[in-house]
Amino acid sequence: MAYFPVLRPRRLRAKKSIRDLVAETNVSVNDLMLPLFFKEGIREPEPIEAMPGQYRYPVDMAPKIVQEAMELGIKSFLLFGVIPDDKKDFQGTAAYDPEGPVPRAIRLIRRELGDEPAIFTDVCICGYTTHGHCGIPVERRGRKVIDNDSTLKIIAKMAVTHAEAGADFVAPSGMMDGMVKAIREALDNEGYSDVGIMSYAVKYASGFYGPFREAAGSAPRFGDRRSYQMDPRNAAEALKEAALDVEEGADILMVKPALAYLDVISILKEAFPQYPLAAYNVSGEYSMVKAAAEKSWIDEKLVTFEIITAIKRAGADIVITYHALDVARWLREGYSPF
Ligand code: PBG
Repeated sequence: MAYFPVLRPRRLRAKKSIRDLVAETNVSVNDLMLPLFFKEGIREPEPIEAMPGQYRYPVDMAPKIVQEAMELGIKSFLLFGVIPDDKKDFQGTAAYDPEGPVPRAIRLIRRELGDEPAIFTDVCICGYTTHGHCGIPVERRGRKVIDNDSTLKIIAKMAVTHAEAGADFVAPSGMMDGMVKAIREALDNEGYSDVGIMSYAVKYASGFYGPFREAAGSAPRFGDRRSYQMDPRNAAEALKEAALDVEEGADILMVKPALAYLDVISILKEAFPQYPLAAYNVSGEYSMVKAAAEKSWIDEKLVTFEIITAIKRAGADIVITYHALDVARWLREGYSPF
């Protein structure tokens, strides 16, 4: 009788030093991008009620906020602008105002901190329009629809304004067809061929954006976003969206939300291994953790690390997350949960 030993995978889990040695996925501050909200016309940070620990900051605090994050090792940022309702209009013209919160924040950051921080900007009009849609509503054959091509002109201008102010990458999030192409052409024409595009290539019509819409004042005033954002039931379609954006010139692809779409992250990384893949761990995903932690129903640090690790394990290279500062702080304190 041949000798058949029990096969023992547990040897590799025997103690932390060995587990750390064989771990396939590790979370590093290098992979984390911090979203930041800058609001016009306020003097003190405003806590965002539905996102504990997150704030809308006055524009002139931008250098301080970014510097504090850099001290913790967070070096890349995704900027959102928030403006009062009375500055919004139907076309979202404030979106490309060079004196808007995002261009001003970028200029201040560059002036105080120089070139080092990687500044990404969200490019979408929903926070700048009276209707709160990511495109311009028009009436067509008796039906209200979101017009694609007139929207492209506006977001292309918005991208150029951000580039001019000193953004490294622009990140179109409106899910308009052809948005990457329109922005690439506009940037190149204006002499910003060095400014990159991180495309929200695969963005689902998700309930997980709820807290963000409170934060940015960007909820649609009528209808919903299902005619432009993707249907949560579809995964193969994500490959089409990504392929188009690659063809149009995207430098970085993104899947959003992250946690409920790990399968999509995984197939996208497999299909486009040569493109850096970002995943947006969105507001609702963040707030669920914070809410459960507040009630002591979960171990916040452990669950946060598990989530970020899962998103990376699925195939994301970059994790855009409101947890970035917490994670950076915990790593610095030597926290290592596994
Ligand atoms: C704007 C935009 C949204 C988010 C990022 N950019 C909201 C939306 O599509 O309604 C969501 C981010 C989050 O929930 O954290 N189009």
